[in-house]
Amino acid sequence: MVEPFDAVDLIRTKRDGGALSTAQIGWLVDAYTRGYVADEQMSAMTMAIFLNGMLPAEIKDLTLAMVASGERLDFSGLSKRTTDKHSTGGVGDKITLPLAPLVASFGVAVPQLSGRGLGHTGGTLDKLESIPGWRARLSAQEFMSQLDEVGAVICAAGATLAPADSKLYALRDITGTVEAIPLIASSIMSKKIAEGTAALVLDVKHGSGAFLQDPARSRELAEVMVRLGNDAGVATRAVLTNMQVPLGFAIGNANEVRESVEVLDGGGPADVVELTVALAREMLDLAGMPNVDVEGALKNGKAMDVWRAMIRAQGGDPDAALPVAKEASVVTADRDGVLVKQEALPFGIAAWRLGAGRARKEDPVQHAAGIDLHAKPGDTVVKGQPLFTLSADEPARFARALEALDGAWAIGDPGDPIDDGGPLIAGRVG
Ligand code: URA
Repeated sequence: MVEPFDAVDLIRTKRDGGALSTAQIGWLVDAYTRGYVADEQMSAMTMAIFLNGMLPAEIKDLTLAMVASGERLDFSGLSKRTTDKHSTGGVGDKITLPLAPLVASFGVAVPQLSGRGLGHTGGTLDKLESIPGWRARLSAQEFMSQLDEVGAVICAAGATLAPADSKLYALRDITGTVEAIPLIASSIMSKKIAEGTAALVLDVKHGSGAFLQDPARSRELAEVMVRLGNDAGVATRAVLTNMQVPLGFAIGNANEVRESVEVLDGGGPADVVELTVALAREMLDLAGMPNVDVEGALKNGKAMDVWRAMIRAQGGDPDAALPVAKEASVVTADRDGVLVKQEALPFGIAAWRLGAGRARKEDPVQHAAGIDLHAKPGDTVVKGQPLFTLSADEPARFARALEALDGAWAIGDPGDPIDDGGPLIAGRVG
C-alpha cells in the first residue's frame, strides 16, 4: 500500500506549532494502530501535542479517528434509553457502584464499560471482583440481554473499542505525556463515543487526588469533552467535583463495595450520597426524566433490587461475605482538636501500597487491602481516638503505607482553616 503521508513531516508540523488536517490525523491514527508508524514516532508526536496543544478541530479529528480504529456499539435495538457516566478518577471514588443500579431502577439502561485501576486511583472492576463469583468479562450477547433485562451492566471494555487509544495510552504512560488536555479528552471521549451511549455525564475532578489538580485546567478539560460528545451526537454534560479529600470513608476494594451497599441501603457517607444523587439526576435528566425521586429509590429498596440483580447476572453472590484482611493497623489522634487536613493523593498511594492497587497492568490486587477512615476534615477529635485503619494481608506493607501518609493529615485548633478544597460539587458544564 502506498502511504499518503510521511510521519516525520507530520511530527515536524506539530513540533513547529502548525495544525494537522483531518486526513493527516486519520492516517496517523490508522497507521499507528496497524504498526506502520513506530512507537518512537508517536512518542515524538504526543510530546509535540503536549507542548504545543491542538486546535478544537484537531482534537475532534483525533477523537473520531480513534473511534474509527475499532468497533462502535449500537444500542438502537434496545427497548430502553442509554445513559452513562465517566469519572476522571479519584481516591475512594466508588460512585459507579451505587449510581448504575440507581439510575437503572428508573427504567434506563446504563452500559458501564469500565477499566482496572493503575496507580493511586482504584478501578471499578477491581472493586467488584471482591464479590465472590462476580465476573467482569461478558460476551456481547450477555451484555445486551443484561442491559435489556436488568438495566445496569458494569463490565470490562473489550479490546475492540477504540484500540488506538489503548496503544496510545500505554505509550503516553511511559513517555510523560498523559496530562495533555487534547490527549486526555480524545482518549476518554473516543471510548465513550465508541461505546454507543446516547447520553453521558462526566465527573471531572480537581484537587489533590485528581488527575488534573488545578480547577481551571479541569474545567477546560470538561469543556473540551462536553463539546466532543455533543458534536458526536452523545448528549454530554459535566459536573466539576472536588477531590481534595477522599470520597467517603472507604479506600480500597472490598471496603468500597461495603460502603456502596450502605448507600444502596439508604445510608452511607453524606458525600458519597450527595455525589451519587447529583450524578443520577443529571443522567436521568439527559434521559428525559427530570423530575423523578432519586433519593426515594435509595431509601425504598428499588436501587438495591437492581444492584442485587446486576451482581447475580454476572455470577456474583450479593449476600456473600466480602474478604477481610489478615492484618490491621490503627492510627490514632495524637492530640485533642479538629481534623483540618486529609489529603486524597497520599491516602490513595498508601492504599495502593497496602495492596489495593497495582503497579503494572498484569499485577493482581488484594481485595481486602485498603484504608477505612474514622474521621473527616472538620470533625472534632480527642487524643487517642482512631483516625483511620490500614488493612493488609502482609504486615510488612504497613511501614511504606505510613510513609506515604506522613504529613497527609493534620489536627488543628477549633477555628483553624479546613483544607477540604471547598464544596464537593464546584460547578457544571453543558
Ligand atoms: N483516562 C483515560 O481513559 N484516558 C486518559 O488519557 C486519562 C484518563
